[in-house]
Amino acid sequence: MKIAIGADHAGYRLKDVIVPYLESLGHEVKDVGCNCEQSVDYPDYAVPVCDMVLNGQADKGILICGTGIGMTIAANKMPGIRCALVHDMFSAKATREHNDTNVLAMGERVIGPGVAQEIVKIWIETEFSHGERHENRLKKVKLLEEKNTIHP
Ligand code: RB5
Repeated sequence: MKIAIGADHAGYRLKDVIVPYLESLGHEVKDVGCNCEQSVDYPDYAVPVCDMVLNGQADKGILICGTGIGMTIAANKMPGIRCALVHDMFSAKATREHNDTNVLAMGERVIGPGVAQEIVKIWIETEFSHGERHENRLKKVKLLEEKNTIHP
């Protein structure tokens, strides 16, 4: 699988653990940065990761900041992105099965690298539970997106 990944200054250390972990699982990783302590703005890294997911350069995206919250907010402003903030294994599985999330967000200041690796593995390997129930709900989410998108 092709995975795009990005982080801000509060998340890049965890990104540097997740990137080789994904590669060890056989995935192709596209790392958009950042790679430094210097303060940066999380939307600047959320956007290129989400763009890659939306244009097919990546199958899924992973975003990391201090809490994961800023990345989640920014990512979910982009029509077509369903980003979940996940800090436990149950939610990692449930958000793929129920919400078909295409971007995962985590907070480096919230969880340790071991839990983060488990979350990533579960989230990547869990399939969406196709079926009327979940698909109907996602259709309603898409209608909301369309209603709130200005088409030039
Ligand atoms: C950076 O200090 C921090 O605000 C950012 O990484 C993130 O947690 C925002 O939601």
